[in-house]
Amino acid sequence: MNRVHIRTYGCQMNERDSEAVASQLVARGYRIVDREEEADIVLLNTCSVRDQAEQKAIGKMGHLAKRKRRNPDFVIGFMGCMAQNRGPELLERLPDVDLIVGTQRFHHMPEYLDRLTASRESGVPVPSSIVDLEEETGSQNTIREHLPERRKVSAFVSIMQGCNMACTFCIVPKTRGRERGRPIGEIVREIEELAADGTREVTLLGQIVTSYGRGEIPVRNGKSPFVQLLERVHEVDGIERIRFTSPHPRGFNRDLAEAYRDLPKLCNYVHLPLQSGSDRMLRRMNRPYSRKKYLEIVENLRRNVPDMYFSTDIIVGFPGETEDDFHQTCEVFDRVGYDMAYIFKYSKRSGTPAEAMEDQISSEVKEARNQELLGRLEKLSGRRNQALVGTTQEILVEGPARKGPYFTGRTRGNRVAFFEGNERLVGELVEMYVDRATPSSLYGSLVLAGVDT
Ligand code: 5AD
Repeated sequence: MNRVHIRTYGCQMNERDSEAVASQLVARGYRIVDREEEADIVLLNTCSVRDQAEQKAIGKMGHLAKRKRRNPDFVIGFMGCMAQNRGPELLERLPDVDLIVGTQRFHHMPEYLDRLTASRESGVPVPSSIVDLEEETGSQNTIREHLPERRKVSAFVSIMQGCNMACTFCIVPKTRGRERGRPIGEIVREIEELAADGTREVTLLGQIVTSYGRGEIPVRNGKSPFVQLLERVHEVDGIERIRFTSPHPRGFNRDLAEAYRDLPKLCNYVHLPLQSGSDRMLRRMNRPYSRKKYLEIVENLRRNVPDMYFSTDIIVGFPGETEDDFHQTCEVFDRVGYDMAYIFKYSKRSGTPAEAMEDQISSEVKEARNQELLGRLEKLSGRRNQALVGTTQEILVEGPARKGPYFTGRTRGNRVAFFEGNERLVGELVEMYVDRATPSSLYGSLVLAGVDT
C-alpha cells in the first residue's frame, strides 16, 4: 500500500515541487515508482496556466477514478496549482478524489497519505476526502529535499514562491500567492549539499526570480538581493554552472547585466519573457516595459556577453491583438533572434482581468500566429546551431540519451548535444567538436585531451 507515482504537469517549479514531495514521502517510508500501473497511490501535480493543462489533468484523473471504482483502496490526489485554483469544485466533478492539496501545503502530503492509508489498513471506514488549500507562512522553505538515490548532474533549486506582478492574463498570482523568498544561507546550504553529491549545475527557480528578497534584503553596493544570491551561489565549490528561471525583464538592471560579465559560472543563456512586441499589447497585459526598453536590455546583455543565447515566452492571440500587433511581435522575435521560445496561445483564465476584455481572438487566428512563430523559431534556432558546426563546445555530460547509442549533455548556451560517451564521463565537463546540427540538437565527437576513457 505504499507505492506512489507522481505525475507532473507544467513548469520546472512543478517538477521541483514534485521531487521535494517524493523525497519527503520516501523519508516517511513510501516508495516512488515510475510506472503508474504499479502504484497504490497516484498524485497529479497540476498546472493552471492554460485551460488545456487543466483539462489534461482532469481527463487523467477521470481514468484513475475508474480504476479506483474497481479497487477502493487505490488512493488518488490532486496537488499544486489547479488544486489551489479550483479546490473543492474538483470534487463535485470527480467525487472519487481522495486528496486536494494546494501550493503552500505540499509538505503535509506524507501526513495525509498516512491518514488515508491507515484507515484503509485498519478496516475503519474511509475518511471523506481531504482538501487543504491553506496559506502557510514559511511554506517557501519546505521545498528543499532532493531524492538521494539519483545523483543529479543538474539540479533545480527553489529560491522563492509566489508573484506580486499583475499581468492581466495570468492565474499564477492566485495559485502561488505573494512573493516569499528563502534565506540566502539556506539556499546556499542546499546547493553545497548538492555539490557534495555530485551536482555540477544548478538552476535557481521561482515564479519571478529577479524579485528575490526585494524589500527584505537590502541592496548592497548597487546589487539587488538576487544578484547577491548569485554571487553567493557562485562561491560554492563543485558548482560549475548557474542558470535561473523565470526572471522578469524589469529585473534586468545594470547589476544583473554585470553579473553575467563578472560571474564565469553564470551561463550565457537567458530566458527573458517578452509576451508581445507591441507596446499596445504590453500595456493591455500590464507588463511594465516597452518594446524599446526590452530591446535595450537585450543589447546591453549582448554587450556584456557577446555570445549570449536568448529564450522567451510569447502569448499569441491576446484579446485585441491585431495583425499589426502580431507583426510587431514577429519583428522583435527576429531582431532578438531567439534561440528558444515557448509560444502560448492565449487561454482565458477565470478571475483574471483579461477574461472580461473585448475582442477575444478566434482559435484559428491564434493557431496561425502560433505556427508563424514556430516557423521563425525553427529557422533562428537552426541557424544558431548550424553556426556551431566546426566549433568546439564545452558540454556538461548528463547521461545516456533516451534513444540511440548516444550520451547527452548541454552546452553553456543550453543547446542539447549528443555524442558517443560512457558512464564515467557523467558529471564531467568535456569538449565536443560539433560535427552536425539540427534546429534542436548538436551532434559531435568528444575531444578527450587528458580524460581517461
Ligand atoms: N494564456 C496563455 N499563456 C499564458 N501564460 C500565462 N498565462 C497565460 C494564459 N492565460 C504564459 C506566459 C508565461 C508562461 C509561463 O505562460 O507566456 O510567461
